[in-house]
Amino acid sequence: MFEALPNSAAMLARREKMPVINPNKKGNPIKHPAAKGPRIFCDSAVKADIAPLLKAGLIHGITTNPTLLKKAGAKSWKEAKAIMKDLCAMLYPLPVSLELTELTEDKMVKQATELGALGKNAIIKVPMGGYPAVVDGGDPFTGLKVIRRLWEKGIKTNVTLIFNTTQALWAANAGATYISPFLGRLPDYLAKNDDPSRPSGNSLYWMGEGAQKHANSEFVASGGERRDAGPRLIFEIAQVYANYGITTEILAASIRNPVQLTECLLAGADILTVPANVLSTVADHPLSDAGMVGFLEDSKAFSK
Ligand code: E4P
Repeated sequence: MFEALPNSAAMLARREKMPVINPNKKGNPIKHPAAKGPRIFCDSAVKADIAPLLKAGLIHGITTNPTLLKKAGAKSWKEAKAIMKDLCAMLYPLPVSLELTELTEDKMVKQATELGALGKNAIIKVPMGGYPAVVDGGDPFTGLKVIRRLWEKGIKTNVTLIFNTTQALWAANAGATYISPFLGRLPDYLAKNDDPSRPSGNSLYWMGEGAQKHANSEFVASGGERRDAGPRLIFEIAQVYANYGITTEILAASIRNPVQLTECLLAGADILTVPANVLSTVADHPLSDAGMVGFLEDSKAFSK
């Protein structure tokens, strides 16, 4: 389990600048105690999964991606767009992240306008990097150029597929509204590929032979145990953003279970995007349930 480090004054001051999620209603006698709490998004494109969470007031937005749209039943771009439009209407005015699928700068900017037209609450999800695995001889700064151009046009972005702190810094410098560190995929990857016997350096920087095969968690996020790489990455980004007064929101993504959810909160994430199946478990605990059985039994002693 991630061991929380003390929050610096700078980190607390940065949190003060974040949006109010539970505004005090006029005339309400009690000031809301969690006005600046972290926002929770649902990581899904399935309306039936989102609706009960929205109705319960549990979520403040959603995130989608091509995989989630496929799971929601989209078989063509036209169908995917219809689902995204429907989700924007359902969530309005809460934010809905919609991901670009084009791979070159001008086409991505054009597609951002197309997705932006699906709803005033649409946030354009821009993949970080230059996508060398899928674009031959591509420009490594494609994602960053798109983020800056969208920022210049006043279009909000969520920069996705963030795996280290420098990516998070450059995305913010380019004008990102949100950045999404993939907390869950990091330990998934390290469990398969990390090799502590090798010298420090993660695969993103490793220039030698086997660059894609070996990682060393030391430089994924500095210090700590390998298993803590996800929350330490969140903490590290939060600290860097605090040092420089950066208000790009840290949207912890790729969360697999309630433990990771808690770790993100300890590490200082601004927003958590959580799958519906994990969110559906957050209010229950076997001991809460057993406790209620006992209280109900004992309440039978009271005469009516
Ligand atoms: C959210 O914005 C991401 O697309 C999502 O959390 C990815 O999660 P995964 O690693 O479960 O695919």
